[in-house]
Amino acid sequence: MQCFEIQGGFGLDHLVSAERDVPSPGPGQIRLRMRAASLNYRDYLMVNGLYNPKQPLPLIPCSDGIGIVEAVGPDVSRVAVGDRVATNFAQSWIAGKPTREKVRSTLGGPIDGTLAEFMVLDQAGVSPVPDYLTDVEAATLPCAALTAWSALTVYGEVRAGDTVLVQGTGGVSLFALQLARALGARVIITSSKDEKLERARKLGAWQTINYVDDPEWGRTAAKLTGGTGVDHVIDVGGGGTLEQSCRAVKIGGHISLIGVLGGSKVSLALTPILMKNVRVQGILVGSQESFESMCQAFEWHKIRPMVDRIFPFDETREAFLYLSAGRHLGKICIEI
Ligand SMILES: NC(=O)c1ccc[n+]([C@@H]2O[C@H](COP(=O)([O-])OP(=O)(O)OC[C@H]3O[C@@H](n4cnc5c(N)ncnc54)[C@H](OP(=O)(O)O)[C@@H]3O)[C@@H](O)[C@H]2O)c1
Repeated sequence: MQCFEIQGGFGLDHLVSAERDVPSPGPGQIRLRMRAASLNYRDYLMVNGLYNPKQPLPLIPCSDGIGIVEAVGPDVSRVAVGDRVATNFAQSWIAGKPTREKVRSTLGGPIDGTLAEFMVLDQAGVSPVPDYLTDVEAATLPCAALTAWSALTVYGEVRAGDTVLVQGTGGVSLFALQLARALGARVIITSSKDEKLERARKLGAWQTINYVDDPEWGRTAAKLTGGTGVDHVIDVGGGGTLEQSCRAVKIGGHISLIGVLGGSKVSLALTPILMKNVRVQGILVGSQESFESMCQAFEWHKIRPMVDRIFPFDETREAFLYLSAGRHLGKICIEI
């Protein structure tokens, strides 16, 4: 079978097409014929050796994919041949809180990922996806959508009537916009580009702020709420955005710390966090149980993931280059 491997070192030059034997499912395992995969920023970091420089190679990158069950081993009852399923980001995180073991079971590093024609996984490591989604759309859900869902619902307890501030227009952020709207919240979104903000408005954003033109966007967001501040911030900028997130959030509000696109270190005045009684919550994707409840929300609201561009399998490297250029709005996908 054809796959893409990070081979012999890190960097895009080391992401190459390779041949491996078609794997056979053992007891409790299934074989998927893969149909589509989607890229996350994490995959880009992984390919470049920035996510885990100690990751043993070769590695098949990418956590997110959709496949059809085409063979099952003994003792498989959770799925059947012909089912269409998504690969779960953390294979052993079925429910409950994360543990060391659960967070080490992630696809696309340390476990081989979805850029392959076939995959063998434990039956517990996959979940069904809503029928109305195309393969490519469904392949966007396992990491980015679940991260947004966990932030908003599992930890953030977002309710109808809340105001959510979403940073940027990448995969996680657009899912946060769509899901927050479905939960009955209104959304303020930031972007470096006015044309992306325009498109975010069409997706239902209530207010938009260009974070390059307005470096005090946190203050502006708070003003937009009449000075109270937002209930919840989806923070993907980390060191580059946390200070403004603290400005934007209301007393008793919640900041979901999801990414570090603006840096992983920060010198920050901590007093506003305690004086405003703010909860800053680190988010790591989520469990299979959360994924399945999120899929119900997708089904009820018929939410269509924002797919920016689809690349053929042979152009996987071009897809990574496109991701690194940062021109996308939403998800970059690969048809396998
Ligand atoms: N903790 C977790 O479980 C988890 C899960 C998934 C992703 N993440 C992390 O979340 C981040 C976003 O991931 P993604 O897959 O959504 O990435 P992505 O699709 O590549 O989106 C990146 C977008 O973020 C915006 N951005 C970039 N730098 C920014 C900054 N300094 N401040 C504010 N916004 C900025 C840009 O939006 P504009 O072009 O509109 O400016 C950019 O297009 C990454 O750091 C990723 O590693 C974490």
